[in-house]
Amino acid sequence: MTTNKRITLSSDHAAIDLRQVIADHLSTQGWEVVDIGPTSPESTHYPKHGEAAARLVASGDCDLGIILCGTGQGIMMAANKVKGIRCGVCTDAFSARMIRQHNNANMLSLGARVVGEGLALDIVDAFLNADFEGGRHATRVGMIDAIEG
Ligand code: RB5
Repeated sequence: MTTNKRITLSSDHAAIDLRQVIADHLSTQGWEVVDIGPTSPESTHYPKHGEAAARLVASGDCDLGIILCGTGQGIMMAANKVKGIRCGVCTDAFSARMIRQHNNANMLSLGARVVGEGLALDIVDAFLNADFEGGRHATRVGMIDAIEG
């Protein structure tokens, strides 16, 4: 079980409802949820929301982050441009577990137009209940970090 307890959430307009479901789920599990919006259903631009959440994680303000857009792909691409962020899109619990265990992901991205609420919460739980294994995986993650310079 992870010891991280402060987590940021963000999304674009396509994922506001699913983001709220995840926020409620995390709150009942004792997480301190830093939900940085948006709250309006008006169309917005996913890169700025992905970047904002990523900066909270990269700065250490939050331990982990979960971001969402329609597919999870665009907001993930934006988040991964922030130095120190390792974010993967997951549509299954196995991948969500593995991006923590092997890739030391510090952010998870979900597609609200791809996964339903039940699957999304399974994916979230798999991500949060897994821990980085280190060892040979630390070498490889270090190689990813080195690409950033
Ligand atoms: C918005 O229509 C949509 O493009 C966005 O939510 C996301 O899927 C982009 O990757």
